[in-house]
Amino acid sequence: MEDAIENSATTERLCSKNVKALFDTVEAFLFDCDGVIWKGDKLIDGVPQTLEMLRSKGKKLIFVTNNSTKSRKKYAKKFQMLGVTVSEEEIFCSSFAAAMYLKSINFPQEKKVYVIGEEGILEELEVAGYTGLGGPDDGDKRVQLKPNFMFNHDKSVGAVVVGLDQYINYYKLQYATLCIRENPGCLFIATNRDAVGHMTDLQEWPGAGCMVAAVCGSTQKEPVVVGKPSTFLMDFLLERFCIDTSKMCMVGDRLDTDILFGNNAGCKTLLVLSGVTNLSALQDPSNKIYPDYYTGKVSDILKFLGS
Ligand SMILES: *[C@@H]1O[C@H](CO)[C@@H](O)[C@H](O)[C@H]1NC(C)=O
Ligand SMILES: *[C@@H]1O[C@H](CO)[C@@H](O)[C@H](O)[C@H]1NC(C)=O
Ligand SMILES: *[C@@H]1O[C@H](CO)[C@@H](O)[C@H](O)[C@H]1NC(C)=O
Ligand SMILES: [Mg+2]
Repeated sequence: MEDAIENSATTERLCSKNVKALFDTVEAFLFDCDGVIWKGDKLIDGVPQTLEMLRSKGKKLIFVTNNSTKSRKKYAKKFQMLGVTVSEEEIFCSSFAAAMYLKSINFPQEKKVYVIGEEGILEELEVAGYTGLGGPDDGDKRVQLKPNFMFNHDKSVGAVVVGLDQYINYYKLQYATLCIRENPGCLFIATNRDAVGHMTDLQEWPGAGCMVAAVCGSTQKEPVVVGKPSTFLMDFLLERFCIDTSKMCMVGDRLDTDILFGNNAGCKTLLVLSGVTNLSALQDPSNKIYPDYYTGKVSDILKFLGS
């Protein structure tokens, strides 16, 4: 097998020769979760041992996911259930990013936030001291398009947050649309814009980008995106951890979110082939996004360091 990658002189396959250079120059590892740490509800081989080794060598670990359906607290529980000790403070999901974005712009606490999305967003809004509306609560609401029907919405909603929502409906779309179109200065925030995602093992399903696009369509507005690959999350991480991006390594399984996010921020990047991207996709001439390194899975770091 030839590992050379066209158009990219700089992408190297991780091996026992170059792993030390990566390891020594990196102080913090940023991990995407799905396809890197786990696949659905299954931990990927060798992850606990690798994380433990990195921790024991004083590396900071940060887990970044664009999945907004859970809060940091719920993600910490998921890690725990899978047998990996990770604290809430080490987790950055896009639901949390949405709440932190509102904080960063001093969004007034007395204004409300309408949510198209799942529990994670509402939980993070609450932790941040904001009042969220919608989300799962509006999941089975219906509208009747009959004469003289007037849809009322809360005029104190100052922001609409849109993420993946398997219970999206016409009620929620009208609610969000009215807030954005009629409430003066109402913000439109997207957790992420992924086109599709593996909601089940066997198929890909419409991702958050689909819900976001629906609201773009009705409002003719573009959102502020707070998850990968936007820079908001990275700026936030930099401020919180005070580590230069050149001393960070983004580890992910997707070129267009993870690796792009890392490259944009000036991090080192490591693509793992344990998720959605395979070697042929990386090497395909149509690909324009190159990581610094690539390898099969996260535990290769441990394997190569030991050999
Ligand atoms: C997001 O997380 C939820 C809860 O863990 C999971 O059910 C869902 O499959 C995830 N979505 C994607 C696209 O990974
Ligand atoms: C989040 O991004 C990962 C890749 O980083 C992707 O596999 C997944 O589908 C995305 N999840 C959501 C909820 O969009
Ligand atoms: C690699 O991924 C591409 C795009 O997702 C897919 O079309 C192709 O069949 C995969 N190749 C292999 C060898 O699995
Ligand atoms: Mg992933």
